[in-house]
Formats: sequence, structure tokens, C-alpha cells
Amino acid sequence: MCGIVGYVGKKEKKEILVDGLRELEYRGYDSAGIAIIDSRGLHSYKAVGKLVNLEEKSKEFSSKEFGVAIGHTRWATHGKPNELNAHPHLGKNSFVVHNGIIENYTILKDELKLEGFEFLSQTDTEVIVHLFEKNTINSLNKFEAFKSTISLLEGAYATLLITNDEPDSIFFAKNGSPMLIGFNGDDIYFASSDTAIIGKATSVYYLEDGEYGYAKDGKVTLFNSDGEQEFRTKPLSSNKLSAQKDGYRFFMEKEIYEQASVVSDTMMGRVLDETIKFEEIDDNFFNDINCIKICACGTSYHSALVSSYLFERVAKIRCEVEIASEFRYKEPLLTKDTLFITISQSGETADTLEALKMAKKAGLKSLAICNVDNSSIVRESDISLLTRAGVEKGVASTKAFATQTLLLWMLVLYTAERKDTISKDSLKDEIEALRKCSNALKVDNWLHDKIHRLSKRYLHGHGFFFIGRDIFFPLALEGALKLKEISYLHAEGYPAGEMKHGPIALADSELFTVALMPKNLLFDKIKSNVEELSARDTTILAISPEEFELADDYIKTRCSSHVMLEFFEMMVVTQLLALEISIRLGNDVDMPRNLAKSVTVE
Ligand code: F6R
Repeated sequence: MCGIVGYVGKKEKKEILVDGLRELEYRGYDSAGIAIIDSRGLHSYKAVGKLVNLEEKSKEFSSKEFGVAIGHTRWATHGKPNELNAHPHLGKNSFVVHNGIIENYTILKDELKLEGFEFLSQTDTEVIVHLFEKNTINSLNKFEAFKSTISLLEGAYATLLITNDEPDSIFFAKNGSPMLIGFNGDDIYFASSDTAIIGKATSVYYLEDGEYGYAKDGKVTLFNSDGEQEFRTKPLSSNKLSAQKDGYRFFMEKEIYEQASVVSDTMMGRVLDETIKFEEIDDNFFNDINCIKICACGTSYHSALVSSYLFERVAKIRCEVEIASEFRYKEPLLTKDTLFITISQSGETADTLEALKMAKKAGLKSLAICNVDNSSIVRESDISLLTRAGVEKGVASTKAFATQTLLLWMLVLYTAERKDTISKDSLKDEIEALRKCSNALKVDNWLHDKIHRLSKRYLHGHGFFFIGRDIFFPLALEGALKLKEISYLHAEGYPAGEMKHGPIALADSELFTVALMPKNLLFDKIKSNVEELSARDTTILAISPEEFELADDYIKTRCSSHVMLEFFEMMVVTQLLALEISIRLGNDVDMPRNLAKSVTVE
């Protein structure tokens, strides 16, 4: 995904920008660019592909006098990954970089074109620089012109703008996409993530949505809708690893909190007003496909299971899911009308990769859902959809699972639209629900506090049952796996209806049951299953928007307008529960014993 770096000061600017962008490389990008204004004028370099290409193009250039500088790595959303579409975008004598999506850019672009502004790129970002230059005509000063510009933007943005008309300032604004300002003496830095400025800035201010302002003369002036604001910086660690945790105790904790923002990246350019679009998929790709087979391992297998309910229910297409290591040796029957989907966070899991090779050998079309571009599974597949979760450092997967499940839900809707199994109104409702996803994933302080307090009661006993029905069954499997992985306590996930077929024999006062009880899906059925367990004296932790009188502990969820929103909210609860139990038990949450992040052996 896109990255931003900015700098005002006397240090060599190209190096600061390129070093910073390199730290953001892990997010993935397909082009990069820098723009610098110093006493010699405007300088800009752009290149498609990796940063080395940009370095090669700008190798004769350096800027050691005072100046302003902005840089960007771009992940194509509007328009192809070419040099014209790479940021920074130039007006007459101003440059802009931007992360996010300007939702009303077509209206703004049409108006500007009518007024004679020429557009060079296909991006939404370019409207910002032209709008700014248009506004300078009737504004008191350049900052007023910038302020009027951002007041016209709808959507998500983190943006930096520099202009030769005021060559000692950087104008900035943030709404929905991350941006921070770093300080070190008179030097001022900007970045979309603090990893880009660690070792350079010593203190940092993380901008809030709706904040904007300018950096000039070694000082930042900050505004929001209430006018000029005081702000307090925090020290920025010079240790990359601890600074990367952004104040969280563990990467896993940070990654749980990050889920609410990374899902916007997953949806960016794909979830449109009335349709789902995947630039990666050819229009005819689904022709002749009558069935889907998904292979994956562990957590990725759980997201596959969730999607199998949705593919059959919404897209009316047969969908089978298999654990990759089982698939490989069962001599599976494969027919060419089957689309073979692999799901893998790392893209390197040996069993999943080998399963994919088998399917390809049998002549099946293949599609990978993966978090790592250019990984083996991505390279091996006909098509790949990247989950865009950013690097996941915690060994126990959280945000990778959330983005996989979200992407699969989008793929189900995409397939349903093509197969004409969803009405326009239902699709609109689904898209509305997708847009609320980030909210469902937000961690409220009270919720985390409550789970922290509850966790002390769940440190003993002989085991946990996580139970759910339908898509909440795979979530039960995932909740149990998370707890097992980092707490080393015994936990199993079950379909709630299976209790009386065996597992209930384990029910006694030393068994904990985590019951996933959504309002929108079979609430009464699961209620009876939980009642059966309660009658055998197990401790019940109910997670539900509905009060449940037999619960020993109860976590009330907020979302109930769509079952997938309930799903994501409950997922966060199970992740936090595993995290808090594990911390109380004194375990290394990020590096649990016996586990590896990427399983490249069979
Ligand atoms: C659990 C976890 C693992 C992985 C599994 C597959 O938290 O992360 O179960 O899901 O090893 O890995 P990927 O998704 O990289 O193929």
C-alpha cells in the first residue's frame, strides 16, 4: 500500500526520502517518486517498480541546502502503475502526495477540466494540486488556498503539498489515512508510519482525523474544525523494534487494533458504490466455472471455511474446503470446471503450495488470496488477490485472518453479481455492511478492559469449548486455535449442534465454554446448545448482542445489523481473550513456543 515521507530542513533530502520510503517498502508498491523544492527550484523524479529504479534515475541529484521535500510509494488503485500515475503530482509549480481515496474526484476533475486545467494522470490525487492552484487565485495566502482545497475533498486522505510560491513550507492534512509528524531540533519530518523516521526524529505527533496545518521555520501550526490547536508530542524510540510496536505490549496486540484500519486498504478501489471490482480478474474468468475448491492450512483454512458458507448461500456455487496437507495425499478428483483457490498469509506454506501445483497440473484455473506479493503461491497462481494487511509480526495470525475473510466475502459478492444470484438491492445492503466493517473491528477501551478483568477467571480448568453455528463454527475453530497457540491451554472449536454427539461428555464445572451467539443467525438454536452445557455446570462466557440469563460471564457486542459485522466484532473479542489470558500466564505472545510464522516444510 502507499507510503508517504516528507521533510523540511537543511539535511540532504533525497536520502531522507528514499531511506524513509525503504522502511515502508514492506507494505507493497508498484512505483515511487520524490519532489524537492530548494533555492535552485523544483526537482522531481519518478520511477516504476522498486526504489532502486528511482535511485538510479536520481543518482546525480542531491539537495543539501534548506528546502522542502515529499516522497511517495504508490500502490495503483486509480490507473495503471506507470510514471505518469506515480506521485508526487505536479501542477504548475506545486507538488502533492496522497494516500487514501478521494471519493468525489470525478466531479472535481470534470469541473477543473472545464476551467482549462490539464490532467496528466488517471489518479484521484491529481485533483488536489490543481484545486490548490486554482484556489490560490482568490485566497489571502497559500495556506488559505490549501485549507479551501481540503474542505472540498470527500473520502480518505493523508496528504502533503509543497509549492514554489511558498518554498519554505509543507502543507499537510489527514482524514482517515495515517500520518504523523516527527521533530528533531529545527528538522521536521512527515510519514505515514513511524518506522520511516526512526533514528531521525526524536519526538512524534500522531495526527488525528480532521487535522491539517503547515510546517515552517522549524515549527508546526496545527488546526482542526475548532481552529488552531495546541498539541503534545511523544518521545519516539530510536529502537526500531520497540518503536514499531507503537506503544502496544506485543505486535499481536498492535495487529488486533490495526484491523479496523487495514480493512480499508483491503477494500480500497475494490468496493465501489454499487459493485465490487477486482482489476486483477478478467471478465471471462468465471466462465465455465461450476464449483470452487479451496485449500489452506490453519487460520487460513478457517477463513476458507467461512467463505464456503457464503459461496453456496449467496453466490449459489458449490464450494469445498480442504486442509492442504490432507488434499495432497488423498488422490483428489479434480474437474476442469473447478476454480482452485488457495489462501495463505505468507504465500510460502509448503502444503498449500504443493496442493496448488497439483491443481495446476490437473488443468484447473487458480486464484490465490495472499498477503505477500511475489511470494511462491502468488507467482504460481493464475490470479492473485492481495489482502493488503501489511506485515504481520505476531506468529498468531489476527489481521491476516480478518483481511482474508473480508476479501473472501467481497469475492463471494463479486461472483454472485456475475452469476446473477444477488439482487441489486441486496448487493447494495452488502456493500453498506462492508463499509461498516472497520467500525465493527474497532477495539473500545471498555471492551479491552472488561476482557482483561475477565481473563483472570480463565487460567485454570481442563479446557475450553468454543462453540458456534454456521460461519460462527469456523470462528469457534479460530478462537480456540488462537487461545491454544499463545496460552498453551487446551481449547477446541465445535459446531454447537455437535455437543450431544460426544463432546458434552467432557462438560463439568472445570470446563469453560465460549459461546458465539449472534442475533442474526440461529440464535435460538445455539441458545439451546448452550443451555445443555450450562445444565452440566460448565462456566459459560457468552458473546452476544442479546443478554443471556444462563451466562456466568457476558460480553455484549454492539453490531447486529449484519451477520458479518457480528462475526468481525466477535472475532476481535476472541482474539483479545486469547491475548489477555496469555499475558496473565506470562507467555511470549508474539513468539509462542514451537511455532513459526512461515511453514515452508511439509
Ligand atoms: C495461526 C497461523 C497458522 C497459519 C498457517 C498457514 O495463527 O498463523 O495456522 O494460518 O500456518 O499459514 P499461511 O496462511 O501463511 O499459509
